Amino acid sequence: MKIVTAVAPVNIAVIKYWGKRDEKLILPINDSLSATLSTDVMCAKTTILTSPDLKENKFWLNGKEQSFDNVRLKNCLTEIKKRCNSTLPYINWKIAICSENNFPTAAGLASSAAGYACLVYALAALYEIDGEISDIARLGSGSACRSVYGGWVRWQKGILSSGEDSIARPIASASHWPEMRVLVLVVNDNQKKYGSTIGMNHSVETSTLIRYRSESVIPQRIEEINKAILERNFHKFAEITMKDSNQFHAICLDTYPPCIYMNDVSHAIVNLVHHYNTYKEENKVAYTFDAGPNACIYLLESVLQEFLSIVNYIFPKPMDIKANDYFKGLPLDQTIIKKELMDDLNLTQNNEGVLKYLICTKVGEGPRLLTSSNEHLLQENGLPK
Ligand code: DP6
Repeated sequence: MKIVTAVAPVNIAVIKYWGKRDEKLILPINDSLSATLSTDVMCAKTTILTSPDLKENKFWLNGKEQSFDNVRLKNCLTEIKKRCNSTLPYINWKIAICSENNFPTAAGLASSAAGYACLVYALAALYEIDGEISDIARLGSGSACRSVYGGWVRWQKGILSSGEDSIARPIASASHWPEMRVLVLVVNDNQKKYGSTIGMNHSVETSTLIRYRSESVIPQRIEEINKAILERNFHKFAEITMKDSNQFHAICLDTYPPCIYMNDVSHAIVNLVHHYNTYKEENKVAYTFDAGPNACIYLLESVLQEFLSIVNYIFPKPMDIKANDYFKGLPLDQTIIKKELMDDLNLTQNNEGVLKYLICTKVGEGPRLLTSSNEHLLQENGLPK
């Protein structure tokens, strides 16, 4: 019997991946760039066990058994086995996989990136593979290839049809910009989900803007944001991040029929950020939205408390939720918001409960193994604990 357990981080793109040139190999039409978030607050955890006693492959996700007949899962496993030493005595034993996220998937936060990065990292440890694995994680979910590394990570689209050169590379470490914080504003939402895989396929088929973006905008934009990150130029970083999020959602709207991810609350957050930056006469806060209404806010530690107080004023916490359950990863001090600031911002207050909760986190490290046996999610017989 052999068992491994790993944790892997979520990542939030500042230059979005949207559109594939190869569906099976998950090869993108443009480069993308993200920050990997600390696993202290949000992460996926996966245990994989292999044993001669297992009769069949098994897979549990967030407490529920899933079918193993999943193309992306199988593609990752096949590729891992191709790269491992074929004389490993346990290479043909069945496996049990148990995976969970420590953040609610209902929050609509990208969980596939952390999930597949974790799965591939754990499989690589189980089958003793060294070297590149971001291209294997990519076979699970495109954005997962960026979660294989910590810090600031660029996914090079590559040009080869084999996908060999479509890999992720860190451009700066997790400690490069230590003041950087990420605030996730989880928006209450009942909209039917339009998944990113289907959404981006429809965009490639129907949007005329998407080609302009991949060919004429991204190549220059990605170099500019790379430079802004290396120079820790927040003003420039923020401008590019917000423009890229807006362009991505413009393409979603240009998709026919459109894929609408942002809602009125998302737009109110955009408005708030621009008012705040105008008031500060410099970009102090940047928003970015993935395929859902939740806002990811990049900002520096120095403005965190002030900005948070404004968010909490505009979107009040429901009285019946405890502060600890609402402000996750964050002891909210009672910063008094200056009346002039609120007057200058001239924003209307919303009803309580428009936001479900807030998460505050940092840029963090890549996946890692947990060695203590009480961390495993599976028992020795291959069933979940
Ligand atoms: C909007 O990686 O979830 O979050 O490759 O089909 O699994 P598949 O898509 P996925 O797409 C993520 C899109 C995004 C932008 C990003 O993370 O770059």
